[in-house]
Amino acid sequence: MSRMNATPPLYLQQRPEVAERFQRLYQREVVLETRGLGKVYRGPNGETEALRDIDVRVHRREFVCVIGPSGCGKSTLIRILAGLEKASSGQVLLDGAPVAGPGRDRGMVFQGYSLFPWLTVKRNVMFGPLMAGSSRTMAESRAREWLELVGLTKFADAFPHQLSGGMRQRVAIARALANEPRILLMDEPFGALDAQTRAKMQKHLLDIWRNVDITVLFITHDLDEAVYLADRILVLKAHPGEVQEVIEVPVPRPRLAEQCAGAEFMATKARLEQLIHPPNAQAQDEEDDDAAPMLRLTDVTDNIE
Ligand SMILES: Nc1ncnc2c1ncn2[C@@H]1O[C@H](COP(=O)(O)OP(=O)(O)OP(=O)(O)O)[C@@H](O)[C@H]1O
Ligand SMILES: [Mg+2]
Repeated sequence: MSRMNATPPLYLQQRPEVAERFQRLYQREVVLETRGLGKVYRGPNGETEALRDIDVRVHRREFVCVIGPSGCGKSTLIRILAGLEKASSGQVLLDGAPVAGPGRDRGMVFQGYSLFPWLTVKRNVMFGPLMAGSSRTMAESRAREWLELVGLTKFADAFPHQLSGGMRQRVAIARALANEPRILLMDEPFGALDAQTRAKMQKHLLDIWRNVDITVLFITHDLDEAVYLADRILVLKAHPGEVQEVIEVPVPRPRLAEQCAGAEFMATKARLEQLIHPPNAQAQDEEDDDAAPMLRLTDVTDNIE
């Protein structure tokens, strides 16, 4: 059989409605674009090329996940997009205009809880609009709307320390959205949550995304999370951080829990697995070789363990 006639792998097979959805998505305007983005860190131990030649185009209301092994430059990328770090080469464009520094047009949600502990939930959400010159009444009414959207109306007057980790991240999302950004930049936002809360938050985020005019760039190293959330997944490789592959997730939307065990989901996850943990992962081997022999801190010598 010639290669031309070979059936493509399952993760590349799209149902007609999925293929048609991608076509429509690509017709939308590009919200965020990077052109030849590169980053080299210079330190006392020499240079680290964290990112090389990253070209990405994220369309309006698209949900893009970025995945890759530890140290491949995911956080560096998001910090550059947020304007918190300067690129060494290339450009970031938001709605076609070059980005120079941080701005309200990009909302950030990190893994660590970034709420002000001395402000109530409502005041945390009001903070951005107030800083931008909204009246107190306006900021308060907007904050109420966002808190309702994330299901935290009852906790408006609570302080962050009185909330669970999942609830705090919901406040962080509300606070970011209250600035009405063009794009939400999320760096492993659910990484510190237990598995059950994390699953709830993923579903909740998709519900929010469906109801709000927001584009999302979401970093994770959890393969299931990426396949469940994303329209497209950008797979990076490390040393230097380069785009290895871009995957259009073939799982139809809206995504239901049972699809996570479906053939398309599993095939996409298997492809990610192959890209990120190849069978002869040299980088991993090198990392293991570098590991110092472990100290032995026990006197028990009967060798049961
Ligand atoms: N401020 C810095 N100075 C020097 N090197 C840095 C700095 N920040 C990151 N690096 C290096 O750049 C590379 C990419 O780091 P980055 O934190 O972006 O990776 P990551 O993909 O987010 O990793 P993780 O999955 O562990 O969060 C790594 O080799 C890291 O050591
Ligand atoms: Mg990181």
